[in-house]
Amino acid sequence: MTNPFTLGFDKKPFTYIDRTSQTSMILEDITSANPSSQAYILTGVRGVGKTVMMNEIVRRLKDRHDWITIKLNPNRPLFESLAAKLYEEPEIGILFHQAKLNLSLFGLGIDIEQVPPVVSIEIALEKMLLQLQKHQKKVLIAIDEVTKTEDLKAFVSSFQLWISDNLPISLLMTGLYENISLLQNDSSLTFLHRSKKSIYPL
Ligand SMILES: Nc1ncnc2c1ncn2[C@@H]1O[C@H](COP(=O)(O)OP(=O)(O)O)[C@@H](O)[C@H]1O
Ligand SMILES: [Mg+2]
Repeated sequence: MTNPFTLGFDKKPFTYIDRTSQTSMILEDITSANPSSQAYILTGVRGVGKTVMMNEIVRRLKDRHDWITIKLNPNRPLFESLAAKLYEEPEIGILFHQAKLNLSLFGLGIDIEQVPPVVSIEIALEKMLLQLQKHQKKVLIAIDEVTKTEDLKAFVSSFQLWISDNLPISLLMTGLYENISLLQNDSSLTFLHRSKKSIYPL
């Protein structure tokens, strides 16, 4: 069966492969009222253009004021990095402060008197996403070159819970076939089989 989103080499590797329509297709789906998926995986061999395409999707989404795009480094703690980067987004950190979210245990914002600090990073992120939902903001997380690490597994399984709670979050990951297969075949992450998108050359 053809998989419309697997990146492959063009027969003429030195010509520019026009991926505009594929990029637009993914963007339209992510931003549609009823996306077919909230998790997208770009896979293909090394050098085929996964990173470039991911960056282009992120760049185009940045123009939309209802979207927040966050790139995460797969080699850094994903939960903490997401919380910190959300907090640092212009005009977003203030929303968490206004909602009296005490994130001081994660080094974010200031300790709010009378309000007990949130103690779990997972709960902190859930509360942050709820707050963003109230303000009609949606988040796209982009992670380049994923491998099956414990942190990524934990992050993706929390992501699965967030989308089942209708929180406004989408995930775009790139990775080599072998690494994506390892992730998808993990018993806790089989839902990724449904959301897998791969990209073929035009
Ligand atoms: N659509 C494209 N057409 C032609 N060259 C491309 C295209 N996309 C990426 N490239 C080039 O191919 C090289 C590898 O791209 P990259 O996105 O880093 O691949 P990957 O992440 O799949 O390993 C880069 O030098 C990039 O400029
Ligand atoms: Mg790459």
